[in-house]
Amino acid sequence: MVNLTEYKKTSDKEIEQAIANAIVQVENDLESFTHKFKINGTTDNFYVPEDNISWTSGFWTGQIWIAYELTGCQKFKDAAEVQVDSFLHRIENKIETNNHDMGFLYSLSCVAAYKLTSNKKAKKAAILAADNLITRYQKNGKFIQAWGNVGADDNYRLIIDCLLNLPLLYWASDVTGDEKYAKIAKQHINTSLKVIMREDYSTYHTFYFEKGTGKPLYGETRQGYSNDSAWSRGQAWGIYGTALSYMYTKNKDYIDKFYNITDFFIKNLPKDLVPYWDFNFNDGSDEPKDSSAAAIAVCGMLEMAKYLDEEKANYYKDVALKILKSLIDNYAVSNPNISNGQLLHGVYARKSPYNPCKNRNVNECNTWGDYYYLEALIRLSKDWELYW
Ligand code: GLY
Repeated sequence: MVNLTEYKKTSDKEIEQAIANAIVQVENDLESFTHKFKINGTTDNFYVPEDNISWTSGFWTGQIWIAYELTGCQKFKDAAEVQVDSFLHRIENKIETNNHDMGFLYSLSCVAAYKLTSNKKAKKAAILAADNLITRYQKNGKFIQAWGNVGADDNYRLIIDCLLNLPLLYWASDVTGDEKYAKIAKQHINTSLKVIMREDYSTYHTFYFEKGTGKPLYGETRQGYSNDSAWSRGQAWGIYGTALSYMYTKNKDYIDKFYNITDFFIKNLPKDLVPYWDFNFNDGSDEPKDSSAAAIAVCGMLEMAKYLDEEKANYYKDVALKILKSLIDNYAVSNPNISNGQLLHGVYARKSPYNPCKNRNVNECNTWGDYYYLEALIRLSKDWELYW
């Protein structure tokens, strides 16, 4: 384990400069990416435009909303509102909505719009997305099915990423007064936390259930190195996912699970505090880093620190600020000529002998890494109301 006392935290001045650089990046991209969205990840560090069809489309809209909050400039609000219209169209016409990614998509675009501007179309779209998400709930097993047709035999499983889709459901219960959304969210996280952690507090990416009975069966990776390893982004989804469910429910069990999952993450960090794409690898490996896992974990630690006793809160905030310093110093884009993204050296999917993946956006920017990096920065610049 690295000795964290030897690392410096990022300073207010560094955060200010990082925010200035990040806003330039969003501003430069508005022309190409207002009526179009950013594709999942870059090629040679540049995004190309795509329609609103991916699980990742909302991460770009979320960045525009953050730029709006940080600057107050109308042009960001105008661009984000064009995208909100597109999200309403997408859910009304069920375009690529046969999946669990409704929270990733609608929290950062439409819940954000509703919270910031009381946009009624955004509220409608986000509630429709929550309605769509709860259709994926499986009573046998008590979980939300992530992928495939609902009830499909080969996809009767949950995935750790889904914890980030739950805030949409808690929010939907708050605004509609209908508890059905939050009830499903709570059942899903409780099931997930029962099955997803191994004895050493590393996590499985996905976990299967027996369809007829709901009996938990076995864990399996999709994007990690192997079924026994810890995919670093999955571990990060666990960190932020437990923090967000705690924020909404105040269930203390989620704090204990947060400690377990986060401490594994911290204990296994390499020297520059940004994990390789899977914790199977560490210093000395030629495998790529996944900067997005670090950015997600930073946001999770900063969020949970709000609810912990002073000593614990200071510890996790301190670690978060040290990881963020490494991201700012070594991964963030500070020159628009090298990239139209925010955070270099991420991985979407990495092929291994033990997973079904092809290499996708390896050692590249990705939209979620960019988004969580901006979220970490705005969290440190003001008392930020979450879009989640
Ligand atoms: N939620 C999909 C991923 O993290 O790649």
